[in-house]
Amino acid sequence: MSIELSSITKDYNEYNSNTRVLEDVNLKLADGDSVSIIGRSGSGKSTLLHIMGLLDTPSCGDIFISGHCYSKASDRLKAEARRKLIGFVYQFHYLLLEFTVLENLTITQLISGASSSSAKQNAELLLKKLQLWDRRHSLASRLSGGEQQRIAVARALVNFPKIILADEPTGNLDETNSKIVADLLFNEAKERGASVVLVTHNSDLAKIADRSFVLKNKTLNLV
Ligand SMILES: Nc1ncnc2c1ncn2[C@@H]1O[C@H](COP(=O)(O)OP(=O)(O)O)[C@@H](O)[C@H]1O
Ligand SMILES: [Mg+2]
Repeated sequence: MSIELSSITKDYNEYNSNTRVLEDVNLKLADGDSVSIIGRSGSGKSTLLHIMGLLDTPSCGDIFISGHCYSKASDRLKAEARRKLIGFVYQFHYLLLEFTVLENLTITQLISGASSSSAKQNAELLLKKLQLWDRRHSLASRLSGGEQQRIAVARALVNFPKIILADEPTGNLDETNSKIVADLLFNEAKERGASVVLVTHNSDLAKIADRSFVLKNKTLNLV
């Protein structure tokens, strides 16, 4: 099992008032499985994805990644899991704009402890495969929105994570580029045996996943 959520509840406490955003959310995601999550703005999609990505902690319930419970893990263990097991893609790419495409993909690996030669080799292989090879020396700031998002997907994949978490990765793209980015995400993840959790507003893209859920009334329901 790549991710298991068991009775996740999330409350935000602000100014002495308590807002429940998630209640009794359960999900099991096998290795290589993909799911999509749709839901209206403010329904808690990003909160749920942040919990899955160990960027936020649930108020109640447990989260398991690769069979290991992280609900009460130390920050150090969670950071290590994020580096080694999880790849993130966001609506806005968060590439390092002053660096080249190749550098953006190697830096991620160097931070995770790869040698510079293997980091370069991995990045080059991926860029060739994704037909972004001729952009390798371009500054990230010079790419189109669609290209930037494809590089952001490549960066999420480059460390061979077990899980890719994508929060509205095509929210900023036109229809054609959305399809290209989503196909890239699902196809590459499948080929590598990685699981995907895709949050999207686009119901056509949501259908590409093995299972689709809607986040409504604080919990996940199959579509
Ligand atoms: N750090 C936070 N503190 C307090 N409330 C928050 C915080 N993050 C999100 N929320 C609230 O939780 C709800 C769900 O937000 P979010 O998970 O971002 O929804 P979505 O991604 O579906 O639009 C919203 O009402 C939002 O205002
Ligand atoms: Mg959101």
